[in-house]
Parts: sequence; C-alpha cells; structure tokens
Amino acid sequence: MMNPLIKEILAFPADGQELLIRGWVRTKRDLKNLVFVEINDGSCFKSLQCTFDRNTPLSGETQAALSNLGTGASVEIRGKLIPSPAAGQSVEVAAQSLLLIGDAPSETFPLQKKKHSFEFLRENAHLRARTNTFGAVARVRSRLAFAIHEFFQHRGFQYIHTPIITASDCEGAGAMFQVTTLDLQRLSNSNEKVDYSKDFFGKSSYLTVSGQLEAETYATALSRVYTFGPTFRAENSNTTRHLAEFWMIEPEMAFAHLEDNMELAEDFLKFLFSTVLKESREDLEFFDSRIQRGIIETLESVVNSRFTHMTYTDAVKELEKNPQAFEFKPYWGCDLQSEHEKYLTEKIAGGPVIVTDYPKEIKAFYMKQNGDGKTVRAMDVLVPRLGEIIGGSEREERLGVLENRIRELGMRPEDYWWYLDLRRYGTVPHSGFGLGFERLILYVTGMTNIRDVIPYPRAVGQAEF
Ligand code: 4AD
Ligand code: MG
Repeated sequence: MMNPLIKEILAFPADGQELLIRGWVRTKRDLKNLVFVEINDGSCFKSLQCTFDRNTPLSGETQAALSNLGTGASVEIRGKLIPSPAAGQSVEVAAQSLLLIGDAPSETFPLQKKKHSFEFLRENAHLRARTNTFGAVARVRSRLAFAIHEFFQHRGFQYIHTPIITASDCEGAGAMFQVTTLDLQRLSNSNEKVDYSKDFFGKSSYLTVSGQLEAETYATALSRVYTFGPTFRAENSNTTRHLAEFWMIEPEMAFAHLEDNMELAEDFLKFLFSTVLKESREDLEFFDSRIQRGIIETLESVVNSRFTHMTYTDAVKELEKNPQAFEFKPYWGCDLQSEHEKYLTEKIAGGPVIVTDYPKEIKAFYMKQNGDGKTVRAMDVLVPRLGEIIGGSEREERLGVLENRIRELGMRPEDYWWYLDLRRYGTVPHSGFGLGFERLILYVTGMTNIRDVIPYPRAVGQAEF
C-alpha cells in the first residue's frame, strides 16, 4: 500500500489516526517548545502542518534532524491527525518522529523561502515545480488534459495519434524543423548538392506543425476524431505567446459546416473552463489572489455568456473606426495583429469573439472558399488578454477547387495526392479547429508568459533541460 497523499490526508477525519507523511519541507518555524514544519507533496496546493512538541519525548535522531532542517529537504514524518487550532486549516499532525531523507543545504539550494522572479525560476526549471505557482500550473495542466479527453470521448470523437514526423507542410507557413540523419558536417565541407533520396525517409521530412491533414483522413472514415499532441514551429518570434514546441488539440468532424465548428469550439472552451472552476478550485483561487485578480469571475462570466460572432470584414470596419489605437494600421486584407485581436475582444465585445470569413490570401490552402471569390470559411476564436486561442475552418471538399488553390499557391498537387484522394472518394463537407494547449493554460491561470505554463519551454535559443 502506498501511503496517503497530503490531498487525501486533508480530507481525513481528525480522529487521532496514525499517519506517515512524505514530502518536502516548505517552511520551518522554531518556537521555544514547538517546532512547526510545513510539508508539501505537490498533490494539492495546501501544505500539511506538522507540529513537534519539545515537551514530549523525541528521539535524538528526530531532534538532530529538526535543528538542521531547511526548506527543500525531503522527509518522512510519523504522527497523529488532530483538529488544528490554527486559522486556515482544519487538521494538522501532532508529530512524533522525523526522518531526514534528503537534505537541501540552504547555502546552495536555489529556492529559498523568499519570492523568486519568474525569470529566475525559468533558469531553474528543474526545481520550479516545487513552488506554489508552478505546482498549481502543473496540476491545472494535468486536469485540463484529462478534461479534453472527457469532452471528446463523451461526444463520440475517437482519439487519433497523428504522426510527429511528416513530409507535408499543413499550414504552408514554411516554419518547419527539418528531420535528417544526413551528416551535416560532411555536407558542409563538400560542394555536393544535398540528395534527400539518401536521407533516412528517402525525402525531406520535418516535425509536424499540425496533425490536421492526417486527422481529416480519419474523420472521413470515423466521422468524429481528435488529435492531442506536440506540434513544432520554427517561428523566430520571441513573444510571450509563441513556443517552438507546443501541444495542440485538433478535432475534425465529417458532415459539419463552419456553424457546427463554431458551436463545438464554444461548447469545448466552456466545458474546460467550468471543469477547472469545479475541479481545480484551490489552484484557481491562488491564481486569482496572486497572479491575475478576477480570473475566477472572468471564467464564470464566459461560461455563462454567448461568444460574439463577427465576420473579418465587419471586424476590420470596427478597427478602422479607431485607427489611432493601433501601431499597425488595420485595412481589409491585413492579417489581424494581436493588438487588433485584443481590441476586438476587450473594447468591442467584452469577451470572446469568433471572427469568420477571412481573406483567402492570409489563410491556409485547405480552407473552403466562399462564393465571393475573396474569402474563406475560416474561424479564429479570440479572447481578451491573449488574442487568438483557436484557429480553424470548414475544409475545401471540392476536388477541382482545392487542386486549383494548391497550384495557385505554387505547391504541387502530387505532393498532396492522399489528401486529394479524400475529395476523390466519398468526399463530404467537414470542419475542424486547433486549440493551442498552452494558450488555454495562459487564459485560465492568468499567467502572462507562455514559457511558464509548459514544464520545459522550447523557443529560439532555448532548449535547456
Ligand atoms: O491557427 P493554427 O496555426 O491552426 C492550425 O494549425 C490548424 N491546422 C488547426 C486546425 O484547423 N486543425 O494553430 C492553432 C492554434 C492557434 O490558435 C494557437 O492557439 C496555437 O495553435 N498556436 C501556438 N501556440 C503556441 N506557440 C505557437 N507558436 C503557436 N502557433 C499556434
Ligand atoms: Mg491561426
């Protein structure tokens, strides 16, 4: 039997039962006859207070360990669970013995009792999960990952594992990491032209930027599917919202139009928000009081509101009414900048906005074209503080139209033969979207830098740990 976690112990009755507690010391306070040791095991936000009374017999080993005990040490404590006289906790442990498992000498242990900056903690990412903030982020992340599966599994979506290594560029953005086993050093010393037919996969291949194209192949067989995995973009943008390695959730539905897609995205986000409001309450209360005031109220109000819908054309009209508000002047045809997205959500809608029907020039090749010849059935879900959190569309299911678009963009239809086959055989209207998992975590926790919501961020010049 494993010993109970602190999360479980805190729910036990304070009936004097004997317990074994294992965890890491957060703080130690030494009074004349009493020593208070706060133990945290990461199972929940709260620590468990263990009180040693020097008037009771304590072994020599326990006394020696207690006097040298510092923040970060790992320990094993035996004691009885009793009602706590202290405010803010219903139970505590009347401790009888303490065994030091691993010391954390204060001269060198980087995490001291004081508050550390997020920059400092990023450089100590291997230890930062032991702080309140990063422990809470990790638990919320885990709970949301579970909620994502719950949401789709309960709605008849099958979980598909799309490949990580791919030869096709889904977004056409050209920001892909190449995967190769060719000897780069030897190639750079020779004047030979690179022959990718000699590379591991017999052609140039990359880390995927999206599982969508492969998800579409399964949606046109199993009707409703989703992927949830890591994706990679070699974007050289050093922002607080971009990572080179991030996780994306991509549902794809056959027999579904843009309106169905918009409804799914809204239901999905609301389900995720209401789940954390219920299941991660303690952690959210911490974020609300220490990281982003009002975050709980914001999430509650989003759950109870309707998302605003707006076409791209109407959105640009709104932006053009107030051009001096922006560094980058908005005009029809421009890619919406994050300042525009924030303005639409914060100043115009006061909540999430779904913008649809973007100009085809600024969107990917696979999006379904509207009859106007100018726009596509795209949708971006924008939220206050962040801007884009979801990007998606109805897919072009007409073979001829899709082939023409691929050629227009200077790509080769042969390279997409299997994707085009979906339009040759039993084609159907279908739609899907991608939710950036880290953007979701930023939104629900109120954290401001995307590097602080993934355990080990990968960004330009950053692959430590
Ligand atoms: O809008 P994007 O590029 O859409 C796609 O990749 C589609 N294939 C999705 C689909 O329709 N199945 O990316 C989707 C979302 C964005 O809205 C954003 O939340 C997130 O992925 N995202 C990033 N998150 C962190 N770092 C980056 N570099 C990101 N790029 C996109
Ligand atoms: Mg996008």
